[in-house]
Amino acid sequence: MHFNNAGAGLLPQPVLEGVVEHLKLEAAIGGYEAAEGQAAEIEHCYTALAALLNCRTDEIAVVENATRAWDAAFYAMDFAPGDRILTAGAEYASNYIAYLQVAKRTGAVIDVVPDDRDGQLDVDALRGMIDERVKLISITHVPTNGGLVNPAAEIGVVAREAGVPFLLDACQSVGQMPIDVEAIGCDMLSATGRKYLRGPRGTGFLYVRASMLDRLEPPMLDLRAATWTGRNKYRMRPDARRFENWESNVAGKIGLGIAADYARNWGLEAIEERVSGLAALLRRELGKIGGVTIRDLGRRRCGIVTFTVDGRDAQHIRQRLAERAINVSISGRGSTLLDMDRRRLNEVARASVHYYNTEEEVGRFCESLESIVGS
Ligand SMILES: Cc1ncc(COP(=O)(O)O)c(C=O)c1O
Repeated sequence: MHFNNAGAGLLPQPVLEGVVEHLKLEAAIGGYEAAEGQAAEIEHCYTALAALLNCRTDEIAVVENATRAWDAAFYAMDFAPGDRILTAGAEYASNYIAYLQVAKRTGAVIDVVPDDRDGQLDVDALRGMIDERVKLISITHVPTNGGLVNPAAEIGVVAREAGVPFLLDACQSVGQMPIDVEAIGCDMLSATGRKYLRGPRGTGFLYVRASMLDRLEPPMLDLRAATWTGRNKYRMRPDARRFENWESNVAGKIGLGIAADYARNWGLEAIEERVSGLAALLRRELGKIGGVTIRDLGRRRCGIVTFTVDGRDAQHIRQRLAERAINVSISGRGSTLLDMDRRRLNEVARASVHYYNTEEEVGRFCESLESIVGS
C-alpha cells in the first residue's frame, strides 16, 4: 500500500516503458546516437511541461531535481545589503539554507510573512510588508510537512501589484492539482518529476517567465547555457535552457514528458478532486483513533496527511506500518524548522495518497494504525 506519494509516486506503465526503451536503445547503439534518433521525444518533454504549466516551451529548463531548479533561479538574482526576501513560515529547509547563505554573503534580509488563523500564509500581512526594499517573494506552495496549500494566486496578485519577482516552490503540488503560471502570476517556479507527477527520479524542472530572463544570470554557465563566441566573450542562451547544463538524464527527460502528458490526460482538476477527497477521508478516519492527532494546517488541503501518535515516535509508526507492507514517511523538524518549532513538533508521520489509492486502502490503513496504537 503506497502512501508515500509525496516521497515518490509510482511510475505509470507508459513512463516506465519510455525510460526503459530509451535505455535499451542507448545500450544497443550508443547514448549520443540514441539521443539523435529520439530528438523529437526529448524535445517533447519541454512541450509537455509547458502545456502542464500553461507557459511557453522556451520558458522551461529541465534539470536533475527540484532543488537544483530552484537554486538556479534563486542564485541568479542579485541581492544588495538591506534587500528583503519575503518567505513563508513553512518554508523548505534547502530554500531557507540558501536564503541564509545569500544573506550572509550579500547583507540581504530574510523576513517571514506570518500565517493567518488557518495556518496558511496571511496575504494581507504580506501586502502590508511590501516596501521598496523587497526584492523577492519566495514561497513554498505545499510544504513538505503537511497538507496545507498556500494561496499562491493571491500571493501572485500582491507580487504583481508591487512589481516584485515571485518564485514558487511547487515541488509538492505539481501533478496533484492544476498549476497555471498565468493564473498564479509567478515569475519562476520549480518542481520535481518523481512525486505527484509520477515521473522518473533524478528529474526536475524550472519555469522562468520570458520577461524575467534578462534579469537573471545563472550562477553557473557551461557550453549548453552559453556559447563561447571569442577569446574574452560568451553569449548566454536567450531561453530558459540557460539554466541547464550539457549532460543530462535523457531517458529521464523522455519519461518526464510522458508523465506530464499522462497527468494532463487524466485532468489535473479530476486528479485534485480525487486526491484531496481521499486525503480528507483519511484525516476523518484517522481522527477517530484515540491518541492520533492530525497535524495538517490550512483552508485548502491536498493529498498529504500528517499526524502524530501520543507516546509513539514517528519512526516506530513507520516501521510497524512497513512490516504490514504500508509505505509512509517521516517529516522531521529540520525540513521545515520554523513551522515545526512554532508548533513544538519534532517530527510528524506523513501519509500521502494519490489517485490510484482507494477508499478500501484508507480503511485498511486506519485499521492497521489502530492496532499498532493499541498494541
Ligand atoms: C517543498 C519542497 N521543495 C523542494 C524539495 C526538493 O525536491 P528534490 O528532492 O526534487 O530536489 C522538496 C522535497 O521533498 C520539497 O518537499
